Parts: sequence; C-alpha cells; structure tokens
Amino acid sequence: MVSLLVDQVGELVTNDPTHGDGSPLGLVRDAALVVEGGRIAWVGESRSAPAADESIDAAGATVIPGFVDSHSHLVFAGDRADEFAARMEGRSYSAGGIQTTVAATRAASDDALRHKVAQLVGEMTRQGTTTVEVKSGYGLTPRDEARSLAVARDFTEETTFLGAHVVAPEYADDPAGYVDLVTGAMLEAAAPYARWIDVFCERGAFDSDQARAVLRAGMAAGLEPRIHANQLGHGPGISVACEVGAAAADHCTYTTAEDRGDLAAAGVVATLLPGVEFSTRSPYADARGLLDAGVTVALATDCNPGSCYTSSMPLCVALAVREMRMSPGEALWSATAGGAAALRRDDVGRLSIGMRADFAVLAAPSYLHLAYRPGVPLVTATYVGGHLVA
Ligand code: NIG
Ligand code: FE
Repeated sequence: MVSLLVDQVGELVTNDPTHGDGSPLGLVRDAALVVEGGRIAWVGESRSAPAADESIDAAGATVIPGFVDSHSHLVFAGDRADEFAARMEGRSYSAGGIQTTVAATRAASDDALRHKVAQLVGEMTRQGTTTVEVKSGYGLTPRDEARSLAVARDFTEETTFLGAHVVAPEYADDPAGYVDLVTGAMLEAAAPYARWIDVFCERGAFDSDQARAVLRAGMAAGLEPRIHANQLGHGPGISVACEVGAAAADHCTYTTAEDRGDLAAAGVVATLLPGVEFSTRSPYADARGLLDAGVTVALATDCNPGSCYTSSMPLCVALAVREMRMSPGEALWSATAGGAAALRRDDVGRLSIGMRADFAVLAAPSYLHLAYRPGVPLVTATYVGGHLVA
C-alpha cells in the first residue's frame, strides 16, 4: 500500500478536539498528515511526521476536511433565471415554481440529466465538496423519480427519494391520490436507488399528516427519514421530524424556542441553507438560537434551479458568518462535521485517524479566509480517499 505525506500545512483543521489546540476544530499549526489505503493514517506536527512513499508540499496552505453538502437537488433540466429576476423585483418565492422544472425534467433524456449532474458535481468538487447528497423530486412519476435516482446514484451513495416535493400536475385535484402513489408504486420504483426518504412539509406542498405518511412508508421500505421543514413559515415540519426520528430537519428558517428545544432533545440535526435565504431574499434562520439550544447545526447549499442555484459551500460558510452570526469556526464545522452528522456518516467530515482522506487545500494562511474573502476561489485542490479529484 502506497502512503502519501501531505507536509508543510500552515494550518490543519481536523474537527477532532483531541488534536492540536483542543477546540472543536482541532487546529494544528505547521502540520502534516499521512494517507494510507485512502484513509488518514497519521496527523500531527510537521516536525514529527513519519516518512511516506510519496509526499506533497502544501507550502503553508490551509487544509480542511472536504465539505459535506447534505442537501441538494441536482437532477433536473431547464432554467428558472426569469423567476429569480422576478423575485429580485419583489415577487416572493413559492413552491409552485417547482412545476416548471418538473415539465422540463420529464422531457429530458437520461443522458441530459446525467450531464447536468456531472456539471454541478464538478463545480462542487472544484469548490472543496467531497460528499454530496442528491435528491429526486422533479420527476413525480414512478418512472421519472426512479430514473432521476438512478442517475444520482452514479455520483453518490447519498441519494434521497423526494417524490413528495409537490403534488404532480396530473393529481392537482386529488392530492390524497398522489400521496397514495408516492407511498405505493413510486416508492417501490424509487427505493432500490435511494438511501433516504424526504418530504416538503409546507404550505403549498404537503401537510403534517401527509408528511408523516410519506416518511413512515419510506421507513417501512428501509429508507431513512429527513425532511424539508419550516422554510416558508412556522409549520409542523420540525415536530414531524422529531416524532419520526429524522436524521435532519432542513431549512428551519422559521423556528420557535419550542422547535429548537425539540430538535435538541430528539437529536435531529438542523440543516441550514443560507443560500436559499440569500436567493429568495428571505429572513435568515436563527442559527444562534439553534446553537444556544444545543442543536447540532449543518450547513448545505440546497443547490436547485429554483430557490438557490449555488453549488458553493464556501459561499454558504461566508453567508452563515455574515448573515446568521455563526463564528467562522462554527460555520466551517457545520459545513463539514455537521453535514456528516446530518447524513449519519462517521467516516467523513473529520481528519482523524481511520477517517476517509477527504480534504481540500485552501490558498490561504487560515480557514478564516473562507468567510473573510467571500467569492474568492480559495480551493486549489480537492482530495477524495487520498486521490486528487480537482
Ligand atoms: O429546498 N423547498 C423545496 N425544494 C427546494 C426548492 C425547489 C425549487 O424551487 O425548485 C428547496 O428550496
Ligand atoms: Fe431542498
């Protein structure tokens, strides 16, 4: 087995408090790490680094765990730039725009969908993302949901069946019939390609009873639950998440003190998506309230053609710091270890011994530059399992 030494790292973020300064980020200055068999085999100060078969000189750069983007909708066709422009002129975001993408996605070939996902995953990789979750939800027929997930599976194990994104147009007058389809034939077609079951629990999409039915059916089919909750207003999504034991409640733009207490008590991760608030000009989630209540917070892009078309985790970190008052350290932790928690992964999101060697190299003296230099392409290299991928 060939070992690789990454040496002369100016600042190494491990997310392992047993390393370095003992903070949650486990910061080591003048550091090195060794990769063997795709895993981290050694972490410490450069001066005590062991020899390895090959080595890379990081020349004082910062190394961070690869971003874990735990919420995205990459399988789609079409473009909704006009909807964005209309929003910037004052129109508000609603769930209805999803139907535009559904029509375009149904009309697209598998190859066209695969090409789109490849393009967006490529963007993500170049910006330091090493794990991405991808949802279906723009097909809304058994065939189109299954093929969307089959395409997503070519890129990630973290695939999510979101047939309950909105009621399909053919069922506009029969939402109960649509829930029967989602929990019946559609789930059966989709489940072989999915790890997770999700539902958009919101005004204009699905109510709490429908959300519960969708998640319970998915769980009975062996999928694990996660949910779109409290995006457009105060609603029941967070309560449903806690009741079914979801891995994560995503958006959480509107929360009460009771919601925050419930998330903490139930151990449900709150995945905040500040790119959505930015792109829909909405109020930002109460990240401080969630953190103070003891909730585990993740940050993700929600990359999708409607509410937020960014693939950039560094942008989300900068927004979380500037707009949601997370510290730069909290934001980076949430974008890496927090995302891993939201996906119930214990092999990514940290750079400690035994973890997958997924990391990004930043052309910066410190991770602080991610928020300090918004919009600047600081990621110069991305490694997955110890292999250079971008
Ligand atoms: O997470 N909230 C629901 N789904 C997406 C938006 C989808 C769309 O507008 O196309 C979201 O924001
Ligand atoms: Fe979403």
